[in-house]
Amino acid sequence: MNETRHRVLDALADGPVSGPTLADELGISRSAVWKHVEALRDAGFEVTSGEDGYTLSAVPEFGGPAVEYGLDAPYTVEYHDSIPSTNARARELAAEGAENVVVLADEQTGGRGRLDREWASPSGGIWLSLLFRPDVPMAHAPVFTLAAAVAVARAAREAGVEATIKWPNDVLVSVASEGTSSGEDDDVVVTVGDEGEERKLVGILTEMEGEADRVSWVVVGIGVNANVDLASLPSAANPTSLEAVRGAPVDRRVFAQRLVETFDELSQDVDSVLDAWREYATTLGKEVRVETPGGVVEGTAVDVQFPGSLVVDTGDGQVTVSAGDCEHLRPVADD
Ligand code: BTN
Repeated sequence: MNETRHRVLDALADGPVSGPTLADELGISRSAVWKHVEALRDAGFEVTSGEDGYTLSAVPEFGGPAVEYGLDAPYTVEYHDSIPSTNARARELAAEGAENVVVLADEQTGGRGRLDREWASPSGGIWLSLLFRPDVPMAHAPVFTLAAAVAVARAAREAGVEATIKWPNDVLVSVASEGTSSGEDDDVVVTVGDEGEERKLVGILTEMEGEADRVSWVVVGIGVNANVDLASLPSAANPTSLEAVRGAPVDRRVFAQRLVETFDELSQDVDSVLDAWREYATTLGKEVRVETPGGVVEGTAVDVQFPGSLVVDTGDGQVTVSAGDCEHLRPVADD
């Protein structure tokens, strides 16, 4: 959304405000005011006109202008109803020199996951990629992935879903499966449980370019199973959705805003990321098996270290693992 349209929107939100007053305040013509109001209506904002002038009476449910409206973070939002992959689009924008852009979609037709896996992205999800250019060495970049996991876990909790983080960046929910049925009522019935099964709510894929001492750009791609039909997600991924856990759809506009705002806050203060991550971590204290490029590490996960490595106590000393696939074995029994 352009700067002037933003200002028109902000003025309307404090409304009612007359066309001539708006024109004076913004230093534009009355016909320009009218054009901006029409464009906002086309974008789904409800702008009513009365005796006192224009008033903003409703904001669209989802989409670029809806997420940008009231967003307290320095990002513009490029929205697509359907796109192959928001990460691929963000990489294109990076190559064109863009920064601080969120690419957001309702559906992806070629969503990508880690290890070049497919990522099912039906309509109703929050599929987004943040493109930014931090002034850090490449080796520090994993901290942004952890920041993204914290941002999503926090937004989920604000939406009433007790999300936790499995190292390094899977956002999970503990659910007790009560059963499944097929056909018309093809719903997986889930209830939140203390010691239930862990199901995946979110996946994060970070890509970047740069030289050893300086990152040129980072794209953090976040896929949130928000209000998606669980039957359309591959069961091998053991997925769940915000809607299934809450028993009601989540407000995707507010969720996306909170996610971007928290991510922005953390990415500006990377020293705060690890403590925030520990707060939501489900891995710490658990027995884990981590498949790393250098072999398998098994033991108790005891801590996380900057920029995002897992410290595992193998019983034979501590090993620090910077990348790998982590499996939770069982919680360590209390003495
Ligand atoms: C994983 O394998 O767990 C990571 C999945 C990441 C999916 C997100 S959805 C938004 C962005 N666009 C993509 O194509 N992938 C990421």
